[in-house]
Amino acid sequence: MAGSKTRGRGGGGVSRSKSSARWLARQRRDPYTRKATAEGRVSRAHFKLEEIDRRCRLLRPGMRVLELGAAPGGWTRYVEERIRGGMLVACDFRAISAGPDTQVVEGAVGDPDVDAEIARLLDDQPVELVLSDMSPNISGIRTVDQALSMELAELAEDCADRWLKPGGRLVIKIFQGEGVEAWIPKVRKKYDKVRLLKPKASRSDSREVYVVAEGFRRSRA
Ligand SMILES: C[S@@+](CC[C@H](N)C(=O)[O-])C[C@H]1O[C@@H](n2cnc3c(N)ncnc32)[C@H](O)[C@@H]1O
Repeated sequence: MAGSKTRGRGGGGVSRSKSSARWLARQRRDPYTRKATAEGRVSRAHFKLEEIDRRCRLLRPGMRVLELGAAPGGWTRYVEERIRGGMLVACDFRAISAGPDTQVVEGAVGDPDVDAEIARLLDDQPVELVLSDMSPNISGIRTVDQALSMELAELAEDCADRWLKPGGRLVIKIFQGEGVEAWIPKVRKKYDKVRLLKPKASRSDSREVYVVAEGFRRSRA
């Protein structure tokens, strides 16, 4: 038994290092990774939000924004540049690169202590925009990853229900797959307009898309 375990681990190690090497090679070839490095951006995700913002006119000076799944901070830094004089609360259980005016909450959205800390930092006042780029740790088991990503989308939707002011907007990353078709109509009930966007910086072989919901009006259900 022990021998077979050892062989199993050794084989896994080799294939893991091969897939890490493939990942690194792909990163080096990726134009958005290169652009992010050249411009000193925290992450290539910056370009996804930049495009969503350009297409949907999301951000403006003075806005109050809640950001979920903010690490390493590509979106955080972009939002900071765009909402001069506004307020940003950014949450993740991983470290976020943020400027001095951003309020950082370290922990997982959905944990009652974390939710209480968000409420404290927002002074119990609503926001105009909720952003969620939360993703699960990808296991490679498609059904598991899809279920986890839908859970995160629902967590973000709940946060928006709690914190968005009427007319507010919500951006949520989802992965196309099981659960999405049933979930989107639920979101449509609460917003005037809901669309799905695939920014150019989102890899074409990824099932990732962004739901942009505008005109929050609470559930009529
Ligand atoms: C794709 S990354 C976000 C990238 C980020 N938008 C950027 O521009 O750098 C997804 C993040 O979601 C976070 N995350 C996943 N589940 C979370 C949860 N329940 N609460 C807070 N963050 C979560 C992960 O820790 C990870 O840092």
